[in-house]
Amino acid sequence: MVRWTRLFYVIGFILFVGLFSAAIFYAFKMNEVSKKTNDGSIPQYKYHFVLVPEEMDNDYWRLVEKGARAAAKRLHVLLEYRGPKQSNIDEHLKELKIAGASRVDGILTQGYNDQQFSPVIDNLENKGIPVITVDTDAPSSNRRAYIGSDNYYSGYIAGQALLTDTKGKINVAIITGSFQASHQQLRVQGFKDAIRKEKRVKIIAIEESKITRIRAAEKANKILTEHPETNAFFGTSALDGIGIAQTVVHLNRQNSMYIIAFDTIKDTINDMEKGIIDATVMQEPYEMGYKSVEMMVAIEEGIRVSKLNYTETKVIHRSDLPIAAIEQQKRSPS
Ligand code: BGC
Repeated sequence: MVRWTRLFYVIGFILFVGLFSAAIFYAFKMNEVSKKTNDGSIPQYKYHFVLVPEEMDNDYWRLVEKGARAAAKRLHVLLEYRGPKQSNIDEHLKELKIAGASRVDGILTQGYNDQQFSPVIDNLENKGIPVITVDTDAPSSNRRAYIGSDNYYSGYIAGQALLTDTKGKINVAIITGSFQASHQQLRVQGFKDAIRKEKRVKIIAIEESKITRIRAAEKANKILTEHPETNAFFGTSALDGIGIAQTVVHLNRQNSMYIIAFDTIKDTINDMEKGIIDATVMQEPYEMGYKSVEMMVAIEEGIRVSKLNYTETKVIHRSDLPIAAIEQQKRSPS
């Protein structure tokens, strides 16, 4: 009787161990299946990150994506790039929540503005999903780190460039991507502070492009109609300069107009080559993408990262164009 009971326990124990191992094995398998690529193969990656840009099909963000993909490939990371088709705060926040619900290992996103983005970022962090802000910070949030331009400084150097590049009375109009976005506010503030003491320079108008080239062109047209004395423009986001240039050429004002833009996307470089845009503030979107993935991997592996990581910004003039053109080609979306 005792022997039968022992045999019963031994079989029970073996069955238990077998079933338990099978359960662990299949749970592991299922996790891998959920990470399968489109062709059905199981990729060799360690982490799954999502990069949520302000706008998917924007040349600037495509460069951030390109850098992020290069780092992801090197570090065995599955990188998803998903976000609003056109800049839209609600959709952007929704994408962050979706990424959180699918329990990815890390999220890289533009911080846009503190007020609306910090609560969502904090929620993700509370769930144990680390967040890095890219391009625009949300400094009051619990994000692990920020990587991107010092946006105040980048506006300041644009103001300094306007002062050194122009003479005489200047009536400058600003077209900014969005009044709500903190990086745009910082760029405008930096610009204002740089020119503040210069009596010959006056800000004549400030309008918002909502991150579209068409709107930037319309706003430039409105400004030139209401203030024909405008003789300089500052565009604070990647599509503003080319929108301004379009209108200025349309109204045949290019010879008497100083334009300083933002970023080195292909169209801006073309307008500089044609002599329509005089200067632009160069950012490092490729580096932002690349380093954000590297930093997120470091976080996953328990390595401490610095909170503030500023990438370089500098003003490029037409005379610098061979260098800028080479850099542009190197980084242009393939
Ligand atoms: C900004 C991005 C923005 C882009 C819009 C860039 O200057 O850094 O945040 O999305 O312009 O085109």
